[in-house]
Amino acid sequence: MFKTEIDKNSVPNHVAVIMDGNGRWAKQKGKNRLFGHHNGVKAVRETIEAAAEIGVKHVTLYAFSTENWTRPVDEINGLMELLVFTINKEIKTLMENDISLHAIGDLKSLPSACYRELMKAIEKTSSNKRMKLILALSYSSKWEIMNAVRAISKDIEEKKIASAAINEELFNSYLNTAPYPNPELLIRTSGEHRISNFLLWQIAYAELYFTEKLWPDFRKEDFYEAIVDYQKRERRFGKTSEQLTKMLQ
Ligand code: IPE
Ligand code: IPE
Ligand code: MG
Repeated sequence: MFKTEIDKNSVPNHVAVIMDGNGRWAKQKGKNRLFGHHNGVKAVRETIEAAAEIGVKHVTLYAFSTENWTRPVDEINGLMELLVFTINKEIKTLMENDISLHAIGDLKSLPSACYRELMKAIEKTSSNKRMKLILALSYSSKWEIMNAVRAISKDIEEKKIASAAINEELFNSYLNTAPYPNPELLIRTSGEHRISNFLLWQIAYAELYFTEKLWPDFRKEDFYEAIVDYQKRERRFGKTSEQLTKMLQ
């Protein structure tokens, strides 16, 4: 049981997850890719519950990337339908568990039904306090950063800010993720060791955790295993190990 090994005092505040491997999971079972996506919903539920139970305050799930628009149309449509259906169905669970829903990405590019359901759920859960669930939808980090650069340039042109005022804090405030702290831990399933255009700026100092498990097989204990692994690491932020030990004394 990994859950019992978790130190309650150093649980990450924000965990980001690249949910990968649905297609391969389905293929192993001789089914189509959408079967894999449908079976990934249970893993989403388990991850959210697991995170809330140990006191994680923010969970960001990479659900659909800008690049995923290049997939076959049937798969995209199926994913969007699944999204609307799942959001609708899970509002009740989010309310019962005091979890608020948020979204980052080019949301306006989503099909209108999808966008509507999403906004409805965000609105309805907005005063929930226990945990923030952030869905990355039609999201890519380069898209987000380019947008921020454009918005900053416009504000400089319109003399709302001075270029000398640009610093990390200001830049952060132009990102979709401005309201949230940076993730301390990033989990990717399915054995792929890459970031795939996810939160590049925000994970500058995140701990990366990769597991071979395919997303539809990911369960609470897998999440807790990642937390235990995270807690064993020394986060030095450029300092030496000796400096850190001294700081703790
Ligand atoms: C992740 O699973 C879900 C999305 C990207 C929407 P994939 O669909 O990428 O599954 P694999 O990586 O092809 O197995
Ligand atoms: C990343 O997975 C995007 C999501 C999990 C939504 P992909 O399966 O699209 O990433 P690549 O293509 O393997 O890098
Ligand atoms: Mg994939």
